[in-house]
Amino acid sequence: MNKLNSLGIIGLGKMGSALSENILNNEISLSVFNRYNANEKMVIKNFINKNKKFKYLKGFQNLSQFINSLKKPRNIIILIPTGKIIDKLIKDLIPLLDKNDLIIDGGNSFYKDSIKRENLLKKNEIEFLDCGISGGKEGARYGPSIMIGGNKKNFKRIYPFFKKISAKDLQKKECCTYMGGIGSGHFVKMIHNGIEYGEMQLIVETFSILNLKYSYPEIVKFFEKLNDSVDNSFLLRSTISILKEKKSSKEYVVDEILDEAESKGTGLWASIEGLNFNQSNSVMISSLMARNLSSNKLLRKKYNIKRSSSKLKFDLKHIKKAFYISKCINHYQGIEIIRKAKVDFNWNIDLSEIARIWTNGCIIKSKLMIEISEILKKDENLMNNSKFFNSIKRGEDSLKTTLTLGINNNLALLSFSAAFNYWIAITSENSNANLIQAQRDFFGNHGYKNKKTNTIMNYPWKK
Ligand code: 6PG
Repeated sequence: MNKLNSLGIIGLGKMGSALSENILNNEISLSVFNRYNANEKMVIKNFINKNKKFKYLKGFQNLSQFINSLKKPRNIIILIPTGKIIDKLIKDLIPLLDKNDLIIDGGNSFYKDSIKRENLLKKNEIEFLDCGISGGKEGARYGPSIMIGGNKKNFKRIYPFFKKISAKDLQKKECCTYMGGIGSGHFVKMIHNGIEYGEMQLIVETFSILNLKYSYPEIVKFFEKLNDSVDNSFLLRSTISILKEKKSSKEYVVDEILDEAESKGTGLWASIEGLNFNQSNSVMISSLMARNLSSNKLLRKKYNIKRSSSKLKFDLKHIKKAFYISKCINHYQGIEIIRKAKVDFNWNIDLSEIARIWTNGCIIKSKLMIEISEILKKDENLMNNSKFFNSIKRGEDSLKTTLTLGINNNLALLSFSAAFNYWIAITSENSNANLIQAQRDFFGNHGYKNKKTNTIMNYPWKK
């Protein structure tokens, strides 16, 4: 009889094939399935050919043969695009699976969909885990960061495999951990992506300020210095590599790319969820707005205004600080959403553990993340840490100077502005919200809290 395999992967797209190779290299017996449609007829054949040295690898285009090639209870990771296609696949899988078989959704699904899917599968006595996998193709191949939600016993069942394939932190500990109940894996991955959007935009805004005066090689030098000092991060290193890439002696690859940013949805969900949790996650929201604004080149061309710039007074020290503290604010805002969500959903998530598994393997891995993970061990509210708080406070003037420089030169700096305004707002005891409350009471009789009496009241406004 043919030997049965320990793991199954459905979907050999970029992430699925990279993760499969990672699994194979870790000597885990694997079956892979990919649909057989017009453009994908050769996917399985090509993958098997490329990996023929792995004798335990089996490839299928027939779902029930794939299922029958797996050891019971089966463990199946699905890595296909998010959305309705997952529901369709689950529907197809249900009649083929047995009690206690386990489906792990390793894609970027919306966490509320994962909760619904678990419910449906439960009715069919099939187990389900939601699993955020970060690190792009490289991460999937050589060690991603893995965030798992769902029933703990299922996590324990799958952990021996994920332990092998995940990235390792500085202490050689796996960047894979249990988040909490169903939905938490995808929730945390969604917030990771929201932070990722913010980080990308802050780099881009820093680039556009520097580009007012400096050439690409000079900007690269600045970024390299930054990377060697306070802001060492995967996204900054990636940007350095991008800015070095040339088509010819005069042409940069980045200049041939249309300036319309796309997104697949996780940044939008993260932004909305932050607001749903009453948060002010302005950096990720502004970075999404910047992408949205960019996405209509024709309109921007139509309304284009030629503007003159003011005199440039550059101080790289300020730009460096402005970038760094905006990053701190972005991370703080993102982590705060998880801090609120974990209470609401009753997830027993340790925030420092989340930051720890983000120190390697994922897109937002950085030196700052290592520091944040240490801080969170002592207090889950980052701002309560005086070193963290004071480093932002010390950079406040630099952020203001950098923002002014950009604004005076007609740059749209959505995320730097968002970081600055957030910081000023949360560090100002007095706000103008009393006037908002008065307006609400004036036209809607909504009431306000009287500062002196601490009671809710209405005022008989003269109209
Ligand atoms: C990761 C990435 C990955 C991808 C996102 C963002 O952690 O590996 O976040 O999941 O980059 O899907 O994509 P968009 O920018 O297209 O929304």
